[in-house]
Parts: sequence; C-alpha cells; structure tokens
Amino acid sequence: MNNKKILVAPSLLSADFANLQQDIKRVEAAGADWLHVDVMDGHFVPNITIGPVVVRSVRNITKLPLDVHLMISDPAKYVEPFIKAGSDLITFHIEAIKDPEAVIRLIKSFKKRAGVSIKPKTDTSSIKAILDKVDLVLVMSVEPGFGGQEFIESAVPKIKELRKVYKGDISVDGGINDKNAPGVIEAGANILVAGNYVFGAKDMNDAIRRLRA
Ligand code: DX5
Ligand code: ZN
Repeated sequence: MNNKKILVAPSLLSADFANLQQDIKRVEAAGADWLHVDVMDGHFVPNITIGPVVVRSVRNITKLPLDVHLMISDPAKYVEPFIKAGSDLITFHIEAIKDPEAVIRLIKSFKKRAGVSIKPKTDTSSIKAILDKVDLVLVMSVEPGFGGQEFIESAVPKIKELRKVYKGDISVDGGINDKNAPGVIEAGANILVAGNYVFGAKDMNDAIRRLRA
C-alpha cells in the first residue's frame, strides 16, 4: 500500500531543447508536479547535457519545483551553482562520492532538499547510513546516461526494501510508463520521473493522468 500522494516529474531530457519554453508550458498545462532536470558530465555517465545556465533560464519561466538529478563525478563542486540557478532539490549519486554527508550538509546549508540516487546495480545497503539525512531517494530503473531506455524490473524489489525502512520521498527514474507505474507505486515509490512516455505522448494530460492512476 502507498498512502503518499503520487507526483509526476517529467524529465526535460526528452523535451525539444530548441523549444524548451513551449515544452515546459505544455507539461505544466498537462499537470506535471515537478520538472526533472538531468545533468550529465560525460564522465560519471557517457553523455553530456545541461548546466546551471539552462537551469537559470528554466527557473525564470516556471514555478514548478526543479528536481535536479546530478549524474556527475564531483557533485560537491556544482551544488552551489545549481542552487543559485534556482534548483529546489539536488540529487547526487552515491557511486560518485566518498563523503555523502558532506554533500548533504552543503545542500542543506542553502536550505534546499537533498536526494541520493542509486544505479540499477547498486544495492540499497550503500545508502543505509544516510537515509535519515536525505529528503529523497531516487532509484534508477535504467543505467543513467540516456532517455528512452527500457525499464529494469529489479528496481521494484529495491523500492520495496527501501519503503520498509524509509519514510521520505522515493522517486523512480528510467523507462517509466503506464504499464510499469502501478508496480512501482505499489512497491512504495511516490514520485515518477518520466521522459519519453510524457514528451512522446500525443496527449500529455492523458499520459500524466495514466501514470498517477
Ligand atoms: C537517465 C535519466 C532519466 C531519463 C528518463 O539517465 O536520469 O531521467 O532521462 O527518461 P525516460 O523516461 O525516457 O527513460
Ligand atoms: Zn534523471
């Protein structure tokens, strides 16, 4: 059972970057709760995406919470620029760093929410020691780096395990669609990140509604 309100966070990675404002207005009108911003450095992951300058421009045109997912090797270095650009929540990867508590303290020093993410092959035990310090856990259901990949089922038991011991937000990211959404919600996730399923839909309202249903 999942008693939390289900939020949908469309991933801008699947938006049309030449028409970002238009796409953001479309997901806003379709009922998006948060905007998920995928930051990649070409080092922690093989792809390169966007930096603080883009986040700043996005901040200027929307009031939706900006859920910034740092898939980068040195998150501590970029926490401040991304927060100054207007991020509301910063999620870093446990695989990227040695001292997660320092990054969490840094994020919280700006009075922003902190999240930690685990890749598909990373065990939930790796974040056990910091669960009481983070506001959100993001469970990756694809290998980070690219949108449009297929959902990895082993994310579901990980969400279940986490939900038993963690009361904060659990977000799931990668390959989410109307077929796998009920299973991840049942397992205990309350935030669904979705890129291709939302931005590729003919009817975005309907797509977001189906994810929540
Ligand atoms: C993958 C990103 C995801 C991804 C989601 O590295 O973190 O946010 O773009 O996109 P879909 O829903 O298309 O897998
Ligand atoms: Zn993401």
